[in-house]
Amino acid sequence: MAEETAGIRIPGHVAIIMDGNGRWAEKRGLPRTAGHAKGCEVLEQTVRDCANIGIRYFTVYAFSTENWKRSVEEVSGLMHLFRIYIRKLQKVAMEENVRVRVIGERRRFAPDLIAALDEIESVTKGNTRMDFVMAMNYGGRDEIRRAVVKLAGLVRSGALNPEDITEETISRALDTGEIPDPDFLIRTSGEKRLSNFLLWQSAYTEFYSTPVLWPDFNKEELLRDLAVYGSRDRRYGGVKTK
Ligand code: FPP
Repeated sequence: MAEETAGIRIPGHVAIIMDGNGRWAEKRGLPRTAGHAKGCEVLEQTVRDCANIGIRYFTVYAFSTENWKRSVEEVSGLMHLFRIYIRKLQKVAMEENVRVRVIGERRRFAPDLIAALDEIESVTKGNTRMDFVMAMNYGGRDEIRRAVVKLAGLVRSGALNPEDITEETISRALDTGEIPDPDFLIRTSGEKRLSNFLLWQSAYTEFYSTPVLWPDFNKEELLRDLAVYGSRDRRYGGVKTK
């Protein structure tokens, strides 16, 4: 572990927008779901790699609130993969001492998938090496909307004074309430947009876009990307390291 990361400053919280599964499959004449399947395998390995490298929080954008608009075949293909890979990730999390947390509005998923998400969170609750955060039916604006509804309810009941609402109050009302803001956000496949991911939390996050498609992502690419983070002089947010 120490040699692999020698000389590289490791961010405490790394987030990834896993993009490019569809293009990876199309380039090979395969259905888009084949790209998502390869993407799931890559995610399984990346969870192990992040834990081994010493990353403390690792967050991925697995399914956005916008992803429901994709074709019925693609959405049901993704749901099928989630059912398989949530189980596999649970095994990986237990082997690697990783706690899994789910952010997003899970109630829109089928009952068996909700049960699998509840289970992976409760079974891994005592694990301490890394927190792996899966954004599932997640949208930054929807998360902020839900936090506002929650705080408005507290105001209405008299438990909270509007004047007492601080940035900290809002941060804690988000799905990521117990999770520090990301230090480094990687987006694969060359895209340079946030796409509604961690909008509030990314205020001071370093952003990096790599041309590598998610199904081609691996530990070497992760370390290359982390070296980019290490070379930057962070002025705001996170822990000042320079
Ligand atoms: C974006 O690629 C990727 C997704 C919409 C899904 C990402 C999900 C996974 C890798 C699986 C996660 C699995 C679990 C169990 C949490 P795209 O289809 O937008 O690619 P394109 O831009 O090339 O079309």
